[in-house]
Amino acid sequence: MKLADKVAIITGAGTGIGEAIAHKFSREGARLALAGLPSDPVDDVAEAIVATGGEAETFRGDLAEEAEARACVEAAVARFGQLNILVNNAGIFIANAETDVYRIEDFDRTVRSNIRTAFLMTKFALPHLQKTRGNILFTGSEAGINGSANFTPYGASKAFLHAFAKGVALEQAKYGVRVNCVCPGAIDTAWTRGPGGPLGLEVQKMIDGMVPLGRRGTPEEMANIFAFLASDEASYVTGALVLADGGVTPAKGMTGESVPEHLRQPPPGTLPLRHSHDGLRGKQVYFAK
Ligand SMILES: NC(=O)c1ccc[n+]([C@@H]2O[C@H](COP(=O)([O-])OP(=O)(O)OC[C@H]3O[C@@H](n4cnc5c(N)ncnc54)[C@H](O)[C@@H]3O)[C@@H](O)[C@H]2O)c1
Repeated sequence: MKLADKVAIITGAGTGIGEAIAHKFSREGARLALAGLPSDPVDDVAEAIVATGGEAETFRGDLAEEAEARACVEAAVARFGQLNILVNNAGIFIANAETDVYRIEDFDRTVRSNIRTAFLMTKFALPHLQKTRGNILFTGSEAGINGSANFTPYGASKAFLHAFAKGVALEQAKYGVRVNCVCPGAIDTAWTRGPGGPLGLEVQKMIDGMVPLGRRGTPEEMANIFAFLASDEASYVTGALVLADGGVTPAKGMTGESVPEHLRQPPPGTLPLRHSHDGLRGKQVYFAK
């Protein structure tokens, strides 16, 4: 098991990619502190992990609040006695509007949940990670590399995380702490599939054609990358942005349309995921022109 004897905090662990990281890390032997907003199903994920012999504690709170982020880290260390891995995965994608009509309140919410959470969690976790020569992982995005029309602040918030991850990697190497960032493309969560999401249904239909591999990625495919980077197998990897976008970054045009149907099937997956498409529950999504 890649993560035996490791203790990990995973933020945004109740749904989507975070839920998959939680199950994958547990299967690899990690003991887990699963963090999410009060309405997130983190308890359900923890129960599923405990039912299969894993160890998982939950923390529910808004990690953009200083006191809550600090309490989350302290609770994890109090429960498990150490911290080896922090996964800064929490984030929101709640508006689809051109920049001149993008609401300032949505910009502020995006900065809070995508940037401030990651900064605070990193700040409070570092003293503990220095003791264990641990590592930090961020969930960035191809949108942080390419930019994103109609949700410009979202892409920019991810670009912040990319640069932040590299800076922390450079700064913390002298303590033996590694820092890396996974940059997913379109992943099959509430954000890219289903009504009520920030991408309209017409755009959702086009996604597979835009991706050279002809499909969305799965949360489990992302979790596999996180597990490798968090493990000692990645001991020489730090300051890296690992792009996992089905080829969309270098793509030009609808290259995915030429992929035959039988090659578009995602791997069947092995994790017992129940909340892949629950991430937008209770969240207000705003559309403008
Ligand atoms: N789905 C995609 O296509 C995609 C693509 C690129 C990057 N990502 C990134 O992957 C990560 C997970 O996204 P997802 O698709 O699984 O969506 P998701 O909505 O299922 O997961 C995000 C989780 O973070 C939680 N969260 C948000 N703000 C929080 C806060 N202030 N405090 C605590 N928890 C908070 C949410 O409640 C949610 O459970 C995000 O950082 C996202 O930017 C997703």
